[in-house]
Amino acid sequence: MSSSKAPYKTLIPQCLALLKGEPSLVANLANVSAALKQSRGWHWVGFYRVDDARDELVLGPFQGPVACTRLRRGKGVCAAAWETVTPQIVPNVHEFSGHVACSNATNSELVIPVEAGGRVVAVLDIDSVEFDAFSRSDVEALKPLIEAIEGSWNQWEA
Ligand code: SME
Repeated sequence: MSSSKAPYKTLIPQCLALLKGEPSLVANLANVSAALKQSRGWHWVGFYRVDDARDELVLGPFQGPVACTRLRRGKGVCAAAWETVTPQIVPNVHEFSGHVACSNATNSELVIPVEAGGRVVAVLDIDSVEFDAFSRSDVEALKPLIEAIEGSWNQWEA
């Protein structure tokens, strides 16, 4: 996974192999973040987890520049994915009302909710320095990985 923009065809099986047999939630989310960032050359890749006690999102394992630690409801792309339970494809983050700018270099963003036990437990957030870097085809390509994470989430050790 050394080349930038490696195809999903090899990337997704590699990610699934990383998860196989490993019960640590933090280790798995960390390695998935690293694999996605390294192979696709994205600016920032990581997870925000739902903090039920505070009813907000809290930063989880990620790869990239230092990021906002907490994201509250009703503001930003991650919160939109969490609250609508729908992937958010944002071609130009500067035009997204309420976008939370953790890095000035980010120009487009993809956020996919992760569901387990009938509720959103986290979101996968991917940022690009390019405008319009994401489409439905990215959501579809990442689906087997998201489904694997969802299927194992409640068995993993937090
Ligand atoms: N831009 C996101 C915040 C997270 S950072 O991009 C890592 C948002 O608007 O929710």
